Amino acid sequence: MEIGVKLFGHDSSIFYIDCDRKEIFGLDTERVTRIKHDIGVVAPALNIFKNFCVNVHNTAITLINSGFDLYYFTVYPPLWHDEYLRRVILNKKVGKYEKAKKILKYKPYHLPLIYIYSKIIPSNFKYFISIRLKSTISSICKKHIERYTKVKVREIKVRDHHTSHAASAFFFSPYKRALCITLDGFGDDYSSKVFIGKDKRLEYLYGTECEVRKGFSVGRFYSTITGILGLNPNSDEGKVEALAAYGNYKNKLYRFLMENTQIRNNGGEIRIEATKELSNLGLDSKKLMYLREKLGDANFAAAVQKWLEDIGVRYVSCIVEQEGIKKLCFAGGVFANVKMNQQIFERLNLKDMYVFPAMSDSGCASGAIVLEKIREGEDIDWIKKCEMPYWGPSYSEEEVKKAIKTQDYYYEYLGDSWPEYAAYLISKGNIIAIFQGRMEYGPRALGNRSVLADPRDEKVKKVINSTIKRRKWYQPFCPSVLESERNKIFEKSYKNKHMTCAFTVKEEYRQVIPAVIHIDGTARAQFVEKNDNPNYYRLLKALKQEIGVGVVLNTSFNLHGRTIVMTPEHAIRDFIDCGIDYLIMEGYLIKRGD
Ligand SMILES: [Fe+2]
Repeated sequence: MEIGVKLFGHDSSIFYIDCDRKEIFGLDTERVTRIKHDIGVVAPALNIFKNFCVNVHNTAITLINSGFDLYYFTVYPPLWHDEYLRRVILNKKVGKYEKAKKILKYKPYHLPLIYIYSKIIPSNFKYFISIRLKSTISSICKKHIERYTKVKVREIKVRDHHTSHAASAFFFSPYKRALCITLDGFGDDYSSKVFIGKDKRLEYLYGTECEVRKGFSVGRFYSTITGILGLNPNSDEGKVEALAAYGNYKNKLYRFLMENTQIRNNGGEIRIEATKELSNLGLDSKKLMYLREKLGDANFAAAVQKWLEDIGVRYVSCIVEQEGIKKLCFAGGVFANVKMNQQIFERLNLKDMYVFPAMSDSGCASGAIVLEKIREGEDIDWIKKCEMPYWGPSYSEEEVKKAIKTQDYYYEYLGDSWPEYAAYLISKGNIIAIFQGRMEYGPRALGNRSVLADPRDEKVKKVINSTIKRRKWYQPFCPSVLESERNKIFEKSYKNKHMTCAFTVKEEYRQVIPAVIHIDGTARAQFVEKNDNPNYYRLLKALKQEIGVGVVLNTSFNLHGRTIVMTPEHAIRDFIDCGIDYLIMEGYLIKRGD
């Protein structure tokens, strides 16, 4: 049995495809551990997978790892996000091994990382990047997974990072022939690669190389800016994007960035290039801090965001022009930027496009296993029909009831009529959480683990922020919209089911649904059809009856600082810890007491 993995590093994940039963299972480590973008080895996710597929107990597995993200071996920051790990490293550094060990008891799946970070890397970096060391790391992880999951790992095969990204985008896209473009901070010596996908083949064309430790990439520069703004790199880039809408990009920084970035066509190979000055600026945090102070946060963010959009559009349009293909699919963390995606869609005058819903590194696991299945001669055409990424675990009504009963809350069973009742509660001004079916794979909640509210009432934003999310004031909330309402409400748009692109809302609707529109008049919408999610569709239909518009505010079901809830226990925990009045879980209504 083979399982695709992003073995460790930020957004580590697993992905399984069963071609006989036409079944998919995908899960990020973060959903199990509830540490955002968890960098830990995938053992916790594999343990959940064991419950999904009992065979694993008796079968050795082969892990298809989607590349080694070496960049993260060279720096500590991803580890420092985690309070426990910070304490472990600090204690180890001062020789308090016993204390470190004690703390590690709570997060045993991080053990191999601590070993790799603190013992191997600092001692010899050159050795570290050698193939031999890659296999040493593989064997450390292998042993660890076996101990932690009691599953035998036959082998860990390593695949290229960007090829894995591209495979996720193309093979899940609706296209038979398309250009696949990847763009991220860094992965296996590249920040971008370009492919042509045709039927079962992915043909590599060219890419933009990026040095392991200090090479320039647009994605890495954007992450640096995220850090300069006091936010978490590789996590809070969406906040920079949201803040940018409040600023003016016409400033010295934007001009400098544009003058120092080029899209170069070298004998048919298209690359993004930066001058030495720009590369140096990316490494000069003092100068960047100075610019932030001088311009103000919003203008600083606006300059970098507009630069990303302009360079992204230029890069993609050069490739499209040269290759003469207008069907496009994208993956890589930079394509999480919905405003850049909107610019690509609009300025290239596309009819539609495809961004893999798990566009960041967790999605590499999907691409890696798809390529393996193709290599084995399996028929994978059916995965193109798996449009909605409900690929995580689900829980039975009995499991849900058991979790509810552990707490002293009023509950009742609504049964099959829950979507209509949910719509009624929303129309009466309640903020509710819903939990149904299989959890979403990728960063967006698409109606199975969502917090929902009335889009007409701008005040709900404040309530959600103060009681649940504690988001930055400038972060917008997004809508789920009936597909049949799309053309009525939005300017140029396409049927995007995964919230991966922003669209401009028509002037006449901006006052109708103000709670889900950003300051610039755009909304990152999920367009819903019946087959995508029958219950969620019914909820939207019923809500349209109540409020006159088939739109609902949809934000992921998680408390500030936690990841999207996976289990009924997570849902109950977050329900208790926040100010939501109602939780509807697999047909059970749970009400907060007075
Ligand atoms: Fe990546």
